[in-house]
Amino acid sequence: MEAYKQLIFTRSYLNGGWKGNEETFDVLNPADGSILASVSNANKEDVEQAINSAHLAFRTWSKSSAKERSAILLKWYSLIVENKESLARIMTLESGKPINESRGEVDYGAAFIQWFAEEAKRLYGDVIPGYTVDRRIIVIKQPIGVVGAITPWNFPLAMITRKVSPALAAGCTVVVRPSEETPLTALAIAHLAEKAGFPKGVFNVIAGTDASSIGKTLCESPLVSKISFTGSTRVGQILSSQSVSTLKKLSLELGGNAPFIVFEDADIDTAVKGAIAGKFRFSGQTCVCVNRILVHQRIYEEFIDKFVLAVSKLKLGNGMEEEVNIGPLINKKAIERVESFIDDALSKGGTILTGGKRIDQQFFPPTVIRDATKEMNFSKEEIFGPLAPIFKFSSDEEAIQLANDTIYGLAAYFYTNDLTRSWKISEALEYGIVGINEGLISTEVAPFGGIKYSGSGREGSKYGIEDYTEIKYVCIGNIK
Ligand code: SIN
Repeated sequence: MEAYKQLIFTRSYLNGGWKGNEETFDVLNPADGSILASVSNANKEDVEQAINSAHLAFRTWSKSSAKERSAILLKWYSLIVENKESLARIMTLESGKPINESRGEVDYGAAFIQWFAEEAKRLYGDVIPGYTVDRRIIVIKQPIGVVGAITPWNFPLAMITRKVSPALAAGCTVVVRPSEETPLTALAIAHLAEKAGFPKGVFNVIAGTDASSIGKTLCESPLVSKISFTGSTRVGQILSSQSVSTLKKLSLELGGNAPFIVFEDADIDTAVKGAIAGKFRFSGQTCVCVNRILVHQRIYEEFIDKFVLAVSKLKLGNGMEEEVNIGPLINKKAIERVESFIDDALSKGGTILTGGKRIDQQFFPPTVIRDATKEMNFSKEEIFGPLAPIFKFSSDEEAIQLANDTIYGLAAYFYTNDLTRSWKISEALEYGIVGINEGLISTEVAPFGGIKYSGSGREGSKYGIEDYTEIKYVCIGNIK
């Protein structure tokens, strides 16, 4: 049997065991539509059971020492690294992600576990000088409680570990709801978490197709203290409104519309390399993927020639093949979405330079459109596919105005060799994440998150654990 098959689990993991139901749903391989597995479809009762077990487990897990929690997290980290190849294969099979990117995601996702295993021991409070001579003021950080983590299909592993590791490190317990498109990676790492030794109820994974019922149950439960969600702005808004009755804390990592600005003094070859990496990572299906390429008029033609040449070298195909850079899109709807952006752009004066037509039901080639304008739909909406529109600008002011002309504020990138411009543009961009002369900047050591309609809260880095803690002020009086 191929090694990865030993990590295929088809039931939800809750209260330290595997829970199956008669009703199942199929997980499909987007490369060929074949059925990879039939997974037991969790229902509302399963979610409630997972919440109850997480609530019960919180009593003891929150009282465990940071050192104990750190040790179990590190064990989980090691098991994930040991099983990297199998996890990468499962991920590629269910998401279509090119296998090398899946390997990269296992490293990226595991790094959050390692980072927060270390941070667990550094969750310091404060001692504040007292306001009278007989008082002492202490600030402590305590785990927030049960966390509901709702995660997307585009990062089947890393979006789970980026939420779950800081939560577990802080002493919270967790109920994860992975996307129904990619539950197999989630269940595989649940198995590794079990092997790592998390006590029962601390970490639960609910696999089910009824996203709205599962989300609502998590949001409305008084036993859940916090929701962390990565996904669309529309669903983020629904979850926010469902969380009002329990005044739940929320971390939301939502949609983006990343500008990629190339100034006239930029190194064009470096910018082309960055644009390829930032645009075509997982075929453009990430929230921080480049959505609009803005190029200064003086270098517009040169950039386009070099960019189109680089795009023509990308290989489209089944993500399981080693040399493939662009795999299938996740589903038919994703293909139709890209097509509608292209139709709209063509009707408004855009020109296709390469790509532009689906290959079959699931594959769409990398596509470049020149003469993009702010009237075109991708100026306002997230593309989430392998389409790169190129806009023209003539001044820094115009570039900033175009870049900020969106409701979103997740990631932005720009290329320049001018130090003053670097500072000024970084400060002017209304985004939570800014890359200068780099198109790929996600890492466990830096805070990831957006502003405006891209959400709130930060993941990764020393800031990432704060979202899972409550601050308590303790005053000791009468010290005479
Ligand atoms: C996302 O697309 O949601 C996450 C991207 C990243 O972590 O780089």
